[in-house]
Amino acid sequence: PKKLRPHLGRQIQFADDMQEFTKFPTKTGRRSLSRSISQSSTDSYSSAASYTDSSDDEVSPREKQQTNSKGSSNFCVKNIKQAEFGRREIEIAEQDMSALISLRKRAQGEKPLAGAKIVGCTHITAQTAVLIETLCALGAQCRWSACNIYSTQNEVAAALAEAGVAVFAWKGESEDDFWWCIDRCVNMDGWQANMILDDGGDLTHWVYKKYPNVFKKIRGIVEESVTGVHRLYQLSKAGKLCVPAMNVNDSVTKQKFDNLYCCRESILDGLKRTTDVMFGGKQVVVCGYGEVGKGCCAALKALGAIVYITEIDPICALQACMDGFRVVKLNEVIRQVDVVITCTGNKNVVTREHLDRMKNSCIVCNMGHSNTEIDVTSLRTPELTWERVRSQVDHVIWPDGKRVVLLAEGRLLNLSCSTVPTFVLSITATTQALALIELYNAPEGRYKQDVYLLPKKMDEYVASLHLPSFDAHLTELTDDQAKYLGLNKNGPFKPNYYR
Ligand SMILES: NC(=O)c1ccc[n+]([C@@H]2O[C@H](COP(=O)([O-])OP(=O)(O)OC[C@H]3O[C@@H](n4cnc5c(N)ncnc54)[C@H](O)[C@@H]3O)[C@@H](O)[C@H]2O)c1
Repeated sequence: PKKLRPHLGRQIQFADDMQEFTKFPTKTGRRSLSRSISQSSTDSYSSAASYTDSSDDEVSPREKQQTNSKGSSNFCVKNIKQAEFGRREIEIAEQDMSALISLRKRAQGEKPLAGAKIVGCTHITAQTAVLIETLCALGAQCRWSACNIYSTQNEVAAALAEAGVAVFAWKGESEDDFWWCIDRCVNMDGWQANMILDDGGDLTHWVYKKYPNVFKKIRGIVEESVTGVHRLYQLSKAGKLCVPAMNVNDSVTKQKFDNLYCCRESILDGLKRTTDVMFGGKQVVVCGYGEVGKGCCAALKALGAIVYITEIDPICALQACMDGFRVVKLNEVIRQVDVVITCTGNKNVVTREHLDRMKNSCIVCNMGHSNTEIDVTSLRTPELTWERVRSQVDHVIWPDGKRVVLLAEGRLLNLSCSTVPTFVLSITATTQALALIELYNAPEGRYKQDVYLLPKKMDEYVASLHLPSFDAHLTELTDDQAKYLGLNKNGPFKPNYYR
């Protein structure tokens, strides 16, 4: 079956069959993604309350000698003594990650990852810890570093180290620490990775640059982020991709949950934590009515805000109209609105000219991937004064006293200023685990040296694993109905090891 994404006016064909994964032309090609190798690692991100920050102890973890209670020192974290705190955080996360836990329970007898040596580079939070521990329960050995210098929950890293995972990460790493940690994961005598789980592409890049021979043993790369997937497609285009890779970012469940539902939940959280703003009666303009824009608008509308939309795509613009929003040009409303939110994946959507015309106290923020949607650079001029009023909140003051409230310096609002719902991360983590299992167990020749999209059936399987927590029951097609719809009634997708 074909899936149509109306707002993109483009069709994406999904494979019905496990054997025929679709190669998916990069969606990111038209986006501004010319980020430097390490920029993703330096973007600010905070995923959950951390008990510690980088200022509580000035000694670099690299200088410390630490051992866990079993006498191992095969890790480098801020403070191993915080392991108990971290364990509690992981247990809290497990409560809303029941699908991943059920996958763990169902498959741990068969150990589909026995012999897998996974080198990973992701945010290190309570939720990713649940993923890492699931991979270990399924038989894998893991070595892990952080994909972002700010996002590590130190106590969670300590809990993982205490449990025996070789984790090299702490909150507030320097650029040099960041690459050192990745290197410690890859470069280890007597241990060679055969799988890569990456978020952002920095680990993959490092292996390509420093240890290309490692790829002789690697069975596959699983990549989660827009940026990392874009880099994989570039490698593929240049003929340099020498192993199969799975693009988790563009899987249907991730797109729907991460972009639409996650943003619907976290937009208000990010705005309220930073500004305490009341939304009822406020005039808000949202730039872009794609998945992220739709999520943001639904939340704002529910609280009684008056929402305007700007769009360049007539189909999305029509959808906005049908949903009861007024579609406008930014220039028409910029003087009167109280809040401006960008979520286009484009650049320079809010220009200095727009910023000059905003009213006093207008709040400006971005929900798109890149920090160039709002032209923040244009605000760094001598006539404007910047005042940091709270963490992630700057007042930019014009000579006449007008203030614009800029959040997270134009970086992703929800990732910088609020938390991401655990349930959403469970969906992504379950997809990552299944992608690793599939690539690791695939028979020779099923995957070539290319980037693959997950098949629709695997997406359906991830979704169905998440259903029971709502006590939902799927209706099964009868043979007659399947015939009527022209569908092949195979039942839900099961990973190979279940069949
Ligand atoms: N904050 C988060 O948690 C989060 C989650 C997922 C994705 N993202 C990011 O958010 C961005 C949007 O993602 P999406 O899935 O909604 O993409 P999308 O392609 O579905 O939607 C973007 C929309 O913006 C419109 N657009 C482009 N340029 C515009 C302009 N100049 N003015 C007005 N509209 C314009 C497009 O027509 C499109 O409808 C991406 O950068 C994505 O990486 C953020």
